[in-house]
Amino acid sequence: MSNTEVGLGNDNGIEQLQHMIDEANHIVFFGGAGTSTDSGLPDFRGANGLYKGANSPEEILSHGYYVKHTKDFFDFYRENMIFDGKAKPTEIHEKLVVLEKKHKLDAIITQNIDSLHQMAGSKNVIELHGTSATNTCRRCKAKYTAKWMLGTKNIPRCTQLVDGPGGQKVACGGIVKPDIVLYGEKLPVRALNKAYMAVKGADLMIVAGTSLVVYPAAGLVSELSEDCKLIVINNDKTGVDEAADLVIHGNILNVFKQLEV
Ligand SMILES: NC(=O)c1ccc[n+]([C@@H]2O[C@H](COP(=O)([O-])OP(=O)(O)OC[C@H]3O[C@@H](n4cnc5c(N)ncnc54)[C@H](O)[C@@H]3O)[C@@H](O)[C@H]2O)c1
Ligand SMILES: [Zn+2]
Repeated sequence: MSNTEVGLGNDNGIEQLQHMIDEANHIVFFGGAGTSTDSGLPDFRGANGLYKGANSPEEILSHGYYVKHTKDFFDFYRENMIFDGKAKPTEIHEKLVVLEKKHKLDAIITQNIDSLHQMAGSKNVIELHGTSATNTCRRCKAKYTAKWMLGTKNIPRCTQLVDGPGGQKVACGGIVKPDIVLYGEKLPVRALNKAYMAVKGADLMIVAGTSLVVYPAAGLVSELSEDCKLIVINNDKTGVDEAADLVIHGNILNVFKQLEV
């Protein structure tokens, strides 16, 4: 059983979406890589996704691969997952900023690691999978920027000076790992708890641009309160279409361009 309404009337559901946003006071936007494709960043599983080569990005961006094939991991990571200066926010990000300023949007929960929401000016952005904006030395916890990571070759090593065995200063040499959550690693507890809180207090959740196959992020949708409405905006079908009050199968940017906020 489902009360899902796909593409109402001639406007493909935009009017209903507008109405639901107008009525809501505690919106939570839950986004994935699809919110950034119009900024020029490929997703994994969409039509032009990175999920095409011999090794899937999921395999390469896993903890196991990082441990066993560290150099290959970093080569892939530097080439594909650092977005520093490569992309700009779109009207999707900008309109979410306006909704937050108007106190209609409580939180953005994102699986993205590209910082585009923050770049646009959103304040309450919960990053479930971390960020590629920073990196941390596994040994001494020194922090490094994305630019620094881009300038490294092979396996990036920490250059922080620490006390050597004879009291002299030597480079730390620890591996500098991106602050992203790899497949097979636990999600940051604080971010996950914040996300649960936001979801529980929401009266409207908009899920956009995520194939919703990555757990436990995908499980957040089942935490919605009974009177919370659910909207899905995505090119392809998702696992929660059936449970949604409104499903719009289309380009998110096109949808957002038609919204008045
Ligand atoms: N920009 C980024 O930060 C980035 C990019 C690639 C992958 N990732 C990581 O990959 C993982 C993949 O999971 P995911 O579910 O976010 O992405 P995904 O690639 O699995 O799914 C993206 C979904 O969005 C849809 N989509 C793409 N562009 C769209 C558009 N313009 N309009 C409407 N729908 C569109 C696709 O059809 C697909 O269903 C995440 O954990 C994320 O951390 C992040
Ligand atoms: Zn170090």
